[in-house]
Amino acid sequence: MSATAPPQNQGEDLTVPPEKLPRHLAVIMDGNGRWAKKRGWNRVRGHEEGSESVRVLVRACRRLGIGWLTLYAFSEENWARPQAEVTALMKLLNRFLKKERQEMLERGIRLNTIGETEKLPKATRELLSKTMAETAGGRDMTLTLALSYGGRQEITQAARRLAEDVKAGRLEPAAIDEAALAGRLYTAGMPDPDLLIRTSGEQRISNFLPWQTAYAEFYFTETLWPDFREPELMSALRAYAGRQRRFGRTGDQLETG
Ligand code: IPE
Ligand code: IPE
Ligand code: MG
Repeated sequence: MSATAPPQNQGEDLTVPPEKLPRHLAVIMDGNGRWAKKRGWNRVRGHEEGSESVRVLVRACRRLGIGWLTLYAFSEENWARPQAEVTALMKLLNRFLKKERQEMLERGIRLNTIGETEKLPKATRELLSKTMAETAGGRDMTLTLALSYGGRQEITQAARRLAEDVKAGRLEPAAIDEAALAGRLYTAGMPDPDLLIRTSGEQRISNFLPWQTAYAEFYFTETLWPDFREPELMSALRAYAGRQRRFGRTGDQLETG
């Protein structure tokens, strides 16, 4: 073997069989600020580099055939950040939408949002609705951006809607079941996430999809979001492929079918 041969991975198979991939992947993209701070840069530079990681992730998931990708881009609580950072994040989102539009159309990616998007600046709202309308026919992947999203707020508004339906005589209290509540969440019609990744070493969900992740597998990594690229994604997917999801049953029950 010549000295210039590509590095070998000792025969280890680094791919994940398609049936072992999550159907729905959700990601808490955290650590942009720390990534920038480590370099003595403004936090916004971290968000900029983080948006490149989003681009890489979307492409990789689409190529792998993951049908649902949901990204925590801006939380309800993030409105409390300094105004300049909030403005920069909204501008970056606008830029991302303009830049990725063509790619989404070409690759059959449907754009979707969850959260109180009516709170977003007008230009962002308009760009979002335009892009969602244009990509509505995408059949290969649904990319959901959680924007001004808070899980407790989501459950609270679903409860309010249930109460309104009962009051109006459209719904019997006895008919309120899990499906009735889930059908009033922003995620109505979406499968629950199978895998939730959080970067940057924090081990919490920060109000992201608390109802929907009841049985998700969690994967935490120290990697900061701007550094989370394909190799890190593949590590997470391999970890997920090696998990046994028991949903309350015993391991023996699952192995014997
Ligand atoms: C995640 O990175 C991006 C958003 C919350 C919008 P952070 O901005 O939270 O980065 P850290 O946690 O301060 O490093
Ligand atoms: C969660 O990250 C929100 C997003 C990634 C958009 P935060 O950085 O806001 O979460 P906390 O405040 O550390 O829990
Ligand atoms: Mg953070």
